[in-house]
Parts: sequence; structure tokens; C-alpha cells
Amino acid sequence: MQDFGDIKGWCFDLHGVITDSWIYHAMAWQETAEILGVTWTDDIQEQLKGRDRMDSLEYILQVGGIQDQYTLSEKQAIAARKNKRYLKYLQKMNPSDVLPGINELLADLQADGYQMIIASASQNAPLEIEKLGLTKYFTKVVDVTQLAHNKPAPDVFLKAAEMLELDVSECVGIDDGLVGVQSINAANMVSIGVGDQQILHEADIVFPSTTDLTIANVRQAFK
Ligand code: BG6
Repeated sequence: MQDFGDIKGWCFDLHGVITDSWIYHAMAWQETAEILGVTWTDDIQEQLKGRDRMDSLEYILQVGGIQDQYTLSEKQAIAARKNKRYLKYLQKMNPSDVLPGINELLADLQADGYQMIIASASQNAPLEIEKLGLTKYFTKVVDVTQLAHNKPAPDVFLKAAEMLELDVSECVGIDDGLVGVQSINAANMVSIGVGDQQILHEADIVFPSTTDLTIANVRQAFK
């Protein structure tokens, strides 16, 4: 792993790292799965973390063994309805939905002159950053609609480094999902997982919660 002193950019996943609105995705997907006749499980919920909209739907259909029963336009319509449900939950989002410790971390990063960017699989990321009151930290958000592949492919983190005008070796990526950690690793960035060490075992560094995510702790973990 490189030296912490080389790091200039921090590339953040959104759901589960900056805000817990990920649970709204899970709720909207659960409703969708039940309408499709697919039994919802904790494993499906975990597996959906970080997957983009269509990939999440494909995963649910596959678990139900019904992936061949829908045309592409039917799948797009199902995904659009799920997003409508999600946006309904999102109406209530406000700055109090920022996860513990994150406001402090972002203020410290800005004060120390680090660059920050959102590298999320979500098309709703710019809207959420605005609702969370975090536009002062995140002037840059990767537009996933412009990428060939979403997580676990490296595209979103590669694009994040490019938008920060940094080399991947000068960035850290932070994600709470396994596919997100795999995406960071595939981009050859130092990966920081937030959550369960066993699930996120592929990450270079894992912190159990966002309150542990401080510059001092990351510096220490690099040693
Ligand atoms: C990811 C979430 O950040 O965004 C997934 O972890 C979600 O659960 C994905 O499906 C896509 O979000 P959106 O807002 O583009 O439907």
C-alpha cells in the first residue's frame, strides 16, 4: 500500500457511507420483489448494496428464476416504478440523514485541502447530495449514466480519479458494499470498507462504522 502522504483525493460511495438512505432502496426493492413474487431475504438485501438499478432488478429476477419472463422494456418499466417508490421515500431526506461522523470528516478533509467526489452507482446521487446539504463539499459527482459498466467494474472509481485530475494511486475509495470494494480494488485504489469485516474482507482497510472514519484513523491504518 502506498504512503498516506501521497493521498490527495477521497472518492466516496453514497449509500451506507454518507447517508443511510440505502435502506430506502432496500424497502423499494423489497416491495418490487414481492410484487414480482420473489421472496425477500437478508441475503438479497446485502447483495443489492452498490449494484445499479438494472443490475439490482436482474439480480432479484435471477433469484426468483424468472429472468427470462420479461422483455427489456418491461424490465425498464419495473425499474422505473421502483425508482418512483424510492423518490417518494427521498422526499423526506434532509441534512439530519447524514451518517454519524461524516460531517466532521468532510469538514476536516476540506480544511486539510483534500479533494472529494461522490463515486456512487446511483443516478439519484446529485439530488441526494443537495437534500443532505453537502454541495459545499461535493462539487463533483460521477455521472454513472455515462459509464459503460457499473460496480463491481472499476469505471466509477477510475472516472472519479480522472474528474479529480489525480492518479488512482493518489486516491482512496470508500464503500460499504462488497461490489463497491471490488470496484475500488479493480481501479487499483486503496479500498476502505465501512461495515462488517467478514463481508468486506477484500478491502485494504475496514472500519466498523462511519464514526471510525477519521483522517487520523485512516492515516494510522496505512502504517
Ligand atoms: C447504490 C445503492 O448506491 O445505488 C443501490 O447501493 C441502488 O441499492 C443503486 O440500487 C442505484 O440507485 P439509483 O438511484 O440509480 O436507482
